[in-house]
Amino acid sequence: MSFTRVTRRGRILFVLSLVVLSIWYLATRTGLKQRAPSVNDVQVAYSHRTNEHVNFWREFQPLLLAYEPQCMPPRRLGNAPAAGFKPTDPIARPELLKMSSKEVLRMKNAHSDFVRAINTDTPELSYIPKSKGLVTTAGGSYLPVLVVSLRMLRRTGSKLPVEVFLATHDEYEENICDNVLPSLNAKCIVMTDIINAVPGAVKIEKYQLKPFAMIFSSFEEILFLDADAFPISRPESLFENEPFKSTKMVTWPDFWASSASPFYYEIASQEVVSMNSRQSTESGELLISKKTHLKTLLLCTYYNFWGPTHYYRLLSQGAAGEGDKETFITAAAALGEPFYQVSEPICAMGHRTEGGLAGSAMVQFNPIEDYKLIQKGEWRVNGSKALAPHPFFIHANFPKFNPATVFSKEHAVKPAFNDDWSYTRAWTIPEETIKAFGRDVEKQFWADILWTGCELETQFESWANSTGICSGVKKYWDAQFGSEDPASV
Ligand SMILES: *[C@@H]1O[C@H](CO)[C@@H](O)[C@H](O)[C@H]1NC(C)=O
Ligand SMILES: *[C@@H]1O[C@H](CO)[C@@H](O)[C@H](O)[C@H]1NC(C)=O
Repeated sequence: MSFTRVTRRGRILFVLSLVVLSIWYLATRTGLKQRAPSVNDVQVAYSHRTNEHVNFWREFQPLLLAYEPQCMPPRRLGNAPAAGFKPTDPIARPELLKMSSKEVLRMKNAHSDFVRAINTDTPELSYIPKSKGLVTTAGGSYLPVLVVSLRMLRRTGSKLPVEVFLATHDEYEENICDNVLPSLNAKCIVMTDIINAVPGAVKIEKYQLKPFAMIFSSFEEILFLDADAFPISRPESLFENEPFKSTKMVTWPDFWASSASPFYYEIASQEVVSMNSRQSTESGELLISKKTHLKTLLLCTYYNFWGPTHYYRLLSQGAAGEGDKETFITAAAALGEPFYQVSEPICAMGHRTEGGLAGSAMVQFNPIEDYKLIQKGEWRVNGSKALAPHPFFIHANFPKFNPATVFSKEHAVKPAFNDDWSYTRAWTIPEETIKAFGRDVEKQFWADILWTGCELETQFESWANSTGICSGVKKYWDAQFGSEDPASV
């Protein structure tokens, strides 16, 4: 499908929505009852209600500042080891931070005062009642990666609207945000439009952006996905079934055991969680309801706001990927709000190399099937031989499958090359997992990388000085898939 055809269709849709809007306008003018925007409006056209979010932020921002941890950042004594999660043979909880008892007490007081404040006078979050949507953060070199992910999302038949949060206006690329993303039912929202509308400049960056994107999104029920993650089945099913239906919050696991510091549990007034009950979290995928988990999101935002200085190290103690990842479950647990953590372990996917596995992606599994197993007491994580749930998400995180850089020979992992620099398929092991995809997902992925690299070669700002992006992917496509038409896979 060529890009010009997409925009032509986009134009027709635009005209159609104008017609629909005019009829709606006339209908409301002529006396039909006004109603709150509903889920149907989200599928057709809606605008992000920035003002309502600014009103929320005006209430919430002073709380984040008022309950600052009143002490120095905890000192690091080392980094937690990359220890796998083994519930039948757990490691001891690492203790690699130094804090005085006075410092712990000050943080504990700030934490409980913050929780009391959001319990007494809860700031109201804005969202469109009953709406569901996908939320992500992108910008710069993540934008081309996101376009590829969204094309993979649409292959599942998903109609979920998408909100793409950009940190600042510098990241707003007009053609991408005004044409390309809307053709995929995605829209750009600039975070500083909300953050900076309230005096007292605060800087939100990197890992911190994720919970802010969730609280500033338009949807009641959110699937958050990192820009480099995509589902291989229609994600609408996740909202409609258990475990989301009753818990309204679902997370997926990381490779590792928890490495939260015992100090954290003291600060949050919680029992220390045993090392065999909870895996660490990989927060590239997350389901949450803004309606039921409003307070979880507020406390999670507090952890992230004070993350770089205090909470990130308290929750990970320097383990791999330290950042927002552990702030979601810990916030829910500290407030006693429900959540379901998928038990099926994350799976590394890649191709064979001299060293073993050149892993360039992670696979996360179907939570509906996972939940059914757990209901039956089949804990595969403790050795049950029950059939695995089906793969649901691919998080192609390292290196990024950015059409301009994926063939770089500098990456520590080279997804497209064998040890002798001949081309290879990126994802060939583990074979059972790839077979369980039920179709050649990787070929479709390369087709979307090719489309993005060729149709949008001159469009992304981060590609301004790159040449040969399209021809580079084309060469790989021809070597792997011969004369097969990428538009037909
Ligand atoms: C299996 O492991 C989980 C932790 O993932 C634990 O909560 C559960 O109780 C264990 N079940 C059995 C039967 O050992
Ligand atoms: C491209 O090159 C120009 C001139 O050297 C430089 O100013 C600009 O920052 C570069 N842009 C990117 C995205 O690398």
